[in-house]
Amino acid sequence: MKEVKIETTLQVFDDLKELPEDVQNLMNKASVARDKAYAPYSKFLVGAAILLDNGEIITGSNQENASYPSGLCAERTAIYYAGAKYPKAKHLKMAIIAGSQTNPTTTPIPPCGACRQAISEYEVKQDAPIELYFMGETGKVVRSNSLANLLPFIFDKTVL
Ligand code: THU
Repeated sequence: MKEVKIETTLQVFDDLKELPEDVQNLMNKASVARDKAYAPYSKFLVGAAILLDNGEIITGSNQENASYPSGLCAERTAIYYAGAKYPKAKHLKMAIIAGSQTNPTTTPIPPCGACRQAISEYEVKQDAPIELYFMGETGKVVRSNSLANLLPFIFDKTVL
C-alpha cells in the first residue's frame, strides 16, 4: 500500500481592491452578469466572467428551471458560451461572484464540482491553466492559479 498525499495552494485576498485592475474589472463584469441570473427557486445568484486570449470577456449567470436539474450554473453557462462563440480562444481568467438574495453572503463561494469538471475540460483542451477568482457578494477573494488546484486527480481525456 502506498499513501498519496495531494496538496493544493490558493491565495486569499481580504478585498477585491488588492487585486490587479484587470481582475477587478473581470469581477465587476461577473457582478453585472449576476444581476441577470434567473434563480427564482434557490434565490442564489451567481455571475461568472471569462477573459479570453482574444481580449473578449464572456459572461454568464445561473439559469434555473422548474425542473430543477435542467437549470445550469453560471460558470458552465459562461464557459460553454465562450466555447461556442470562440472555439479557438484560450480561457485566461475566470471571475465568479455569488450570493443569496435572502441572506448576505460574505464568504468566497467556490465553483461546484460539476463546474470544476467543465472548466477542467477547457484547461486540458488548451493545455494552459485558467486562473480562477471567486468571492461572495462582498469580502475576501480566493485566487487559484489553475482549475487543477480545485480538482486534483481529474477525469480527463487521457483515461478514455
Ligand atoms: N450555482 C452556480 O451557478 N454555480 C455554482 O458553482 C454553484 C451553484 C447555482 C445553481 C443554482 O441555480 C444555485 O446556484 C443554487 O445552487
